Amino acid sequence: MSSGDRGLNVGVLTGGGDCPGLNAAIRAIVVKGERRYGDEVVGFLDGWRGLLEDSTMALASATSSELVTVGGTILGTSRTNPFSVDRGMDRISQTVSSHSLDALIAIGGEDTLGVAARLWEEGGIPIVGVPKTIDNDLSGTEMTFGFDTAVQIATEAIDRLRTTAESHHRVIVCEVMGRNAGWIATYAGIAGGAAEILVPEEPFEIDEVCDRLRKRHNGGKFSSVVVIAEGASARSDSPGLALGGSQGGTPAGGMDEFGHIRLGGIGSLLAEEIERRTGFESRVTILGHIQRGGTPTAYDRVLATRYGVAAIDSVHTGAFGTMVALQAGKIVRVSLAEASGNAKTVDPELLHDVAEVFLG
Ligand code: F6P
Repeated sequence: MSSGDRGLNVGVLTGGGDCPGLNAAIRAIVVKGERRYGDEVVGFLDGWRGLLEDSTMALASATSSELVTVGGTILGTSRTNPFSVDRGMDRISQTVSSHSLDALIAIGGEDTLGVAARLWEEGGIPIVGVPKTIDNDLSGTEMTFGFDTAVQIATEAIDRLRTTAESHHRVIVCEVMGRNAGWIATYAGIAGGAAEILVPEEPFEIDEVCDRLRKRHNGGKFSSVVVIAEGASARSDSPGLALGGSQGGTPAGGMDEFGHIRLGGIGSLLAEEIERRTGFESRVTILGHIQRGGTPTAYDRVLATRYGVAAIDSVHTGAFGTMVALQAGKIVRVSLAEASGNAKTVDPELLHDVAEVFLG
């Protein structure tokens, strides 16, 4: 469908874990949609749940420049999966027609955009995707917004942990988010000068970690910061490090509607095991949701704004079934199916040729 000059009815939702920059993306969609195209933009509350239950919010006031600075999402979010409820797709189609929507813009990560891909492919619902997640693990784009802010927060935490670790001659394990991919751990680990960076992509061997720490401490360093992603796991030949869950990490309890276990706690196990094996006094800090809260960095505000503007343009060119993406500095379009397929894991070159040079 191509709109010509007609203003369109556009729905917007934010799904999955929140992240800094969501409000900047919403604002960009509303401002460009209303001012340039004469669109009417309606917000759906709490991710896909808003479409299932037809709960909406007027977005006429979402044009204030202050919104670009505010973390979280004014629309609310949830991990609702319409394909795990009765007649999910029919209910969404009905909401789309009852609002006479010409298009939907879904702002989300792999789960939200995986649903969007199916709604487009199986139901013909005209959807455009916008990539967000602090984990930066969406395929088809070099960067999701939210990631830069999370890296900034984690780096600042590592800087702070370093001085207290040095004062007490301790090992401090810092657990960061990253379910399938260790982007935050790698970037913050490099930026913060971590002694070890452990990521989901490459299960670690506890003996090797302890050997490197011993070597480091015997070589004149008396403290270390070890960065570990929540989804990292020990190899099976790492006795003593009890691990659970099929996705690595340790399950902190519960499972969401997309079948993901709640992660958290691998850092505590690692710190205990390091202390037990090396005798170095160890502590753990789990950064958790601090990484997702608060005001977005300038980079994330700009990226989210560029994505929002490009998404409403995609709607007006009828580029449904696509997601806006960043490639070589330019905003492009990729298919939703490609974006929500396999997770984008950390480039081995970055891990081995860059990060590894500074470890130990
Ligand atoms: O949004 C992705 C993510 O940040 C993962 O890294 C983490 O495992 C998950 O969200 C935590 O989600 P929740 O807010 O549901 O605890």
